[in-house]
Amino acid sequence: MLSQGGLIALPTETVYGLAADATCGTAVARIFETKGRPRFNPLICHMSSLEMVERYVEFNALALRLAEAFWPGALTLVLPLKSDAAINPLTTAGLDTLAVRIPTGFARTLIADYDRPLAAPSANTSGKISPTTAEHVSADLGDSVELILDGGPAVIGLESTILKPAAGGVELLRPGGLAAADIEAVIGKRLLRRADPTATIDAPGMLRSHYAPVAKMTINAEQAGHGDAVITFAGKSLAGQQNASTVLDLSPSGDLREAAANLFAFMVQADAATATQIRVVSIPQTGLGEAINDRLERAAAPRS
Ligand code: TXA
Ligand code: MG
Repeated sequence: MLSQGGLIALPTETVYGLAADATCGTAVARIFETKGRPRFNPLICHMSSLEMVERYVEFNALALRLAEAFWPGALTLVLPLKSDAAINPLTTAGLDTLAVRIPTGFARTLIADYDRPLAAPSANTSGKISPTTAEHVSADLGDSVELILDGGPAVIGLESTILKPAAGGVELLRPGGLAAADIEAVIGKRLLRRADPTATIDAPGMLRSHYAPVAKMTINAEQAGHGDAVITFAGKSLAGQQNASTVLDLSPSGDLREAAANLFAFMVQADAATATQIRVVSIPQTGLGEAINDRLERAAAPRS
């Protein structure tokens, strides 16, 4: 299917991807059409080995250190594209850089067999919640993909962390499933963050409203109203919670990894359970909490 320009939904450890051959323009164009994704928003290329990545992008010592520490895994690196790289320009939205990552498990094996990079954004309609199960993909895009591979629930449940190694340091373009502190421990310095990540679009796809459920969403909630859906953490209880239509605890034991893995599925469940509002308690900003809060803020942002 891939060699014929088809689209497949591919399980990865972060979220399900909508994958096509990154060297084939018509296949990549179908990704944008199927998601309703703006063409200025480039895609991540998934590869199976460092040797394969080196065919397409330039590495420096810092990038190599990050790759060796965290690949395969939930890390995407934005690196200079080689001038002769056979990546279709639709994939990069015409940029001279390429976002690359090596996923774990089945996705990596499939790419190694196919021996070409796969462009794969998250397998959801643009602006909606990212899928962490094959059922999520089927409910959203089932009619428009040839094949959905069911690998069970995504283990991490948040998209990859995106880094851009630059002259002045390593920029964090998107917090994600690899915690910033783990990266800082390897490079021995702080990641560079924008003061207000929503003010400018760093990774072009980091639009302010994203991951949006249908119901209105309130974060850092202190109380719940009649019929609301409540998403809580570590057993915290909101005033008025007894009148909620449903209460979902991201991690009763307060484990942020468990919370990350449950986040998108619980947003889908909460959305189905309420016609009024989803209220989410405040989540600690440490570890994977940074990426969880990033997704919650975008889900609660005013819709365009
Ligand atoms: O975990 C993940 O990263 C998942 C799985 C499927 O691998 N993929 C994913 O892709 O989240 P997507 O398309 O939903 O997000 C890709 C992000 C977008 O914000 C895009 O703007 C950014 O990566 N991006 C892609 N190429 C870039 C580049 N050359 N420079 C800066 N940002 C880039
Ligand atoms: Mg996405």
